[in-house]
Amino acid sequence: MLTQEENELLTRVGSGTPAGQLLRRYWHVVGAASELTEKKPKKRVRVLGEDLVLFRDRSGACGLIAEHCAHRGASLYYGFVEEDGIRCAYHGWKYDACGRCLEQPFESPDAGYKEKIRQPAYPVEKLAGLLFAYMGPPEKKPLLPKWDVLMRQDGARKLDSYQLLRCNWLQAMENSVDPVHTYYLHAHTLRTRGNKEAAYYYRPLSKLEFELVVHPAWAGIQKRRFFAGDTARVETPHPLIFPNMLLVPARHSYNMHFRTPVDDYNTQIFHVSFRPTRDGGVVEQPEDPPLELVSTKNEAGEFHMENFPSQDQMAWESQGPVANRPNEHLGESDQGVILFRKLVRDQLRAVQNGGDPVGVNRDAAKDDVIRLIPEGYTAFSDTADQDD
Ligand code: FES
Ligand SMILES: [Fe+2]
Repeated sequence: MLTQEENELLTRVGSGTPAGQLLRRYWHVVGAASELTEKKPKKRVRVLGEDLVLFRDRSGACGLIAEHCAHRGASLYYGFVEEDGIRCAYHGWKYDACGRCLEQPFESPDAGYKEKIRQPAYPVEKLAGLLFAYMGPPEKKPLLPKWDVLMRQDGARKLDSYQLLRCNWLQAMENSVDPVHTYYLHAHTLRTRGNKEAAYYYRPLSKLEFELVVHPAWAGIQKRRFFAGDTARVETPHPLIFPNMLLVPARHSYNMHFRTPVDDYNTQIFHVSFRPTRDGGVVEQPEDPPLELVSTKNEAGEFHMENFPSQDQMAWESQGPVANRPNEHLGESDQGVILFRKLVRDQLRAVQNGGDPVGVNRDAAKDDVIRLIPEGYTAFSDTADQDD
């Protein structure tokens, strides 16, 4: 149980809040490159409580800038995308991907006024067709982590986004250190619907272990479960990756979840599935792979509960826009949740004391591919269908 103050401390994501400052020390997925097409090279996005416009100019540079024009606030979403930037549709001020003001058609060029204007803008980098943005202090910008799931070429990758999750990001992350939920939420739900797919989870857990892992370029919580009557087997690792990611090994693929906080009450989930070839053969990767939408609700707006994402999102959303943690009653099986909250609190403190939080790397010498999938494991070993 947390006090109301602690609950707010961990969940508020705005730029002036401690957790907002912590989250701004990491790169976040803000969309897929395939969403920015020749015909519609712009997209309105809300990230960490900020209204922004993501665009790709005609030279190919991607920008993420504040939605409201520095002049008098019209939305740049309605702007014209040009060779070197985006031009406001109201009076034609033009900004490049870095937020520099390039033109002010009705201002005297001699006044040097445009040099004084800076539209808030954040760096964007593309990896495996996903667009990542960094919204923190420029001098603290880490290198974009090279997750193996995004870097490997010996398989096919698929990108998905889920229907908007209408709750705070922390609820999704607490679930990633809550392994016992799989028995009822997934296995039992599917079984009662006549679907045997989740048989893997239809066994009680006998023991849970959580371990904090800290590497130069990433950190997180590794969890291990032992099923009753099966104590010797070690499961394929599926760590929570700090602050808002998860690796999930499945029967034929490795999956990474990215939970981008939209604001205090909404979260956008992106999912990457990597399916290795059996013989290690290289697969040609499309430049901008499509982003498919996974539906979690039916037409009536209710969770259909037919797949893992729908079942999970039901649990997270129904806890409320921000879970009422002062009212909860944690038990023995919630040790992972307690550990994760401590990890968040420790990192908030690190940032507030002027330090770096865990898992950020600015050293090019350590910018290697991050091996989340341990050597020797294959996607074809005895693992579950899906998990989180
Ligand atoms: S409001 Fe954008 S140019 Fe005037
Ligand atoms: Fe789940």
